[in-house]
Amino acid sequence: MRILLVASAFNSLTQRVHAELRDQGHTVEVHLAGDDEALRAAVRRCAPELVIAPMLKSALPRDVWSSVTCLIVHPGPPGDRGPSSLDWAIHEGASDWGVTVLQADEVMDAGPVWASAPCVLPPVAKSDLYRNEVSDAAVEAVLRAVDRVASGAYTPRPQCGPGWTAPDHTRPYLRQEARRIDWARDDTDTVLRKLRAADSQPGVLDDLLGAEWFLHGGHPERELRGRPGEPLATRAGALCRATRDGAVWIPELRRRRRPDGPATFKLPAVTALGGALPRLPELPAPLMPAEDDPVWSDIRYREDGPVGLLRFAFPGGAMSTGHCRRLLDAYRFALTRPTSVLVLGGGRDFFSNGIHLNVIEAAADPAAESWANINAMDDLVEAVLTTTDRLVVAALGGNAAAGGVMLALAADEVWCRHGVVLNPHYRLMGLYGSEYWTYTLPRRVGEARARRLTDQALPMTAAAARRTGLVDRVLPCTPREFGREAARLARLSAASPTVQGRIAAKKAAREADERTRPLADHRAEELAVMHRQFFTPGAPYHALRAAFVRKLPAPSATD
Ligand code: COA
Repeated sequence: MRILLVASAFNSLTQRVHAELRDQGHTVEVHLAGDDEALRAAVRRCAPELVIAPMLKSALPRDVWSSVTCLIVHPGPPGDRGPSSLDWAIHEGASDWGVTVLQADEVMDAGPVWASAPCVLPPVAKSDLYRNEVSDAAVEAVLRAVDRVASGAYTPRPQCGPGWTAPDHTRPYLRQEARRIDWARDDTDTVLRKLRAADSQPGVLDDLLGAEWFLHGGHPERELRGRPGEPLATRAGALCRATRDGAVWIPELRRRRRPDGPATFKLPAVTALGGALPRLPELPAPLMPAEDDPVWSDIRYREDGPVGLLRFAFPGGAMSTGHCRRLLDAYRFALTRPTSVLVLGGGRDFFSNGIHLNVIEAAADPAAESWANINAMDDLVEAVLTTTDRLVVAALGGNAAAGGVMLALAADEVWCRHGVVLNPHYRLMGLYGSEYWTYTLPRRVGEARARRLTDQALPMTAAAARRTGLVDRVLPCTPREFGREAARLARLSAASPTVQGRIAAKKAAREADERTRPLADHRAEELAVMHRQFFTPGAPYHALRAAFVRKLPAPSATD
């Protein structure tokens, strides 16, 4: 079918629906909503058989939905309506949820239902659920709805008609007053639910150290205690605050925007607070805690016989200079262990989205910080590329983009959960890119396709990446099963009689490649271009980065 996707932003779900529909052979165009006249023009030009809105914050104009079937993806089960569906579900502690595909109609979210799919809501942040469980359910429901429209033989079910047993309510926008944490009264579980329901956006507005901040993200702390609301300690850039009956780790903060001030953006809590932070103990988490130890940390290492599992999870998949250096230290530690297969990743949600654009934007000298960040990222990638005494598997439970994809490609094998969306390109940020991509990308897909992927700058599904050779294995499991499944498959690889032969062959291949063109040569060539892009004040990267972190439309020139 010829399908027009209309979305408020080309966000993760829109990208996945786009890529999945194209994989199914449909012709798909994307239009960013906002201007109704522009939308009408897009509908006239594209003449779609179907319009799908995977993520739409405004209503479609009547003349559009009355001339072509328009399907809206609603992140809630049938009968649930309103703009903060998922927020309410998490806020109220729901464990089962769903996604509905309904037809656009006079009243928002009230049209007849073409398809729906259930999903579970484990206790993680809203944006993580949205990119994983909700995204899986949305794709299932969208594909079913598209088949039904194409068949021409299906009549969508009106909401709340005869025999309707599902909920029937429109819930309001979840406002900051309802999200607000009452530190003296809310127990830890309530605080965590409020933080998760608001993460990654809009955050929970709070008073902290004499200023107003949005709190982003939350993880439980089992041991530290203090006066409710009081800052207790720091760890890996996050701040620990006491609750009535425990404490929570808050990884990121965003300053409340002043009425006439510029847009603000999220930063690691310790960076955001800067000099306002009182003297607090820095309590690093052990890299190798006991398996059942619930200690929160963003990097942890575990062993399962001959398999090492190095997990990391950074908010938004963004890796600052500090993140890269800590992960490199952990990687070097993992290399001292007696394993034959090392799994890098394996957690849920983002694998990596490359250098940390927010930290760079906030730095006193963004060019110098970009340079430090890309060099730290390159050091990490180099360590993976030069590991010749064991197999390294990159296990992507969630999406990856730009340098984050190239980090994965440094491994010997790349495994992805089936719902993963990859963006193997840098162009949209006005960058040439580094992370040894000029070595690893053509090595996997050939020169011509490497050029196409980086020029076209399109998202791709795990399945499409598997077909092109970018990915070796697609794991058809749920987000929660991914870590266990990756570990199980890694154990099988380690137990295979061919493992030592494969390690020897990879060492020989690396040495041969080094003779053909040294890794240092790739790095020098990539960094020479990146240096120009970072240190030329008028280079597009600076304006693109400034817009990206503040969630403003990208300035037009991206080359
Ligand atoms: N630095 C800082 N923050 C980043 C980031 C980066 N490199 N990549 C993603 N994020 C943040 C986003 O701002 C967003 O924040 P929010 O949750 O507060 O909205 C969050 O991570 C999730 O990203 P989002 O854009 O919502 O996810 P998506 O799945 O819709 O889109 C990308 C994914 C990868 C297309 C998009 O995030 C992107 O273009 N990232 C930049 C990649 C890049 O150019 N890296 C630098 C070069 S190595």
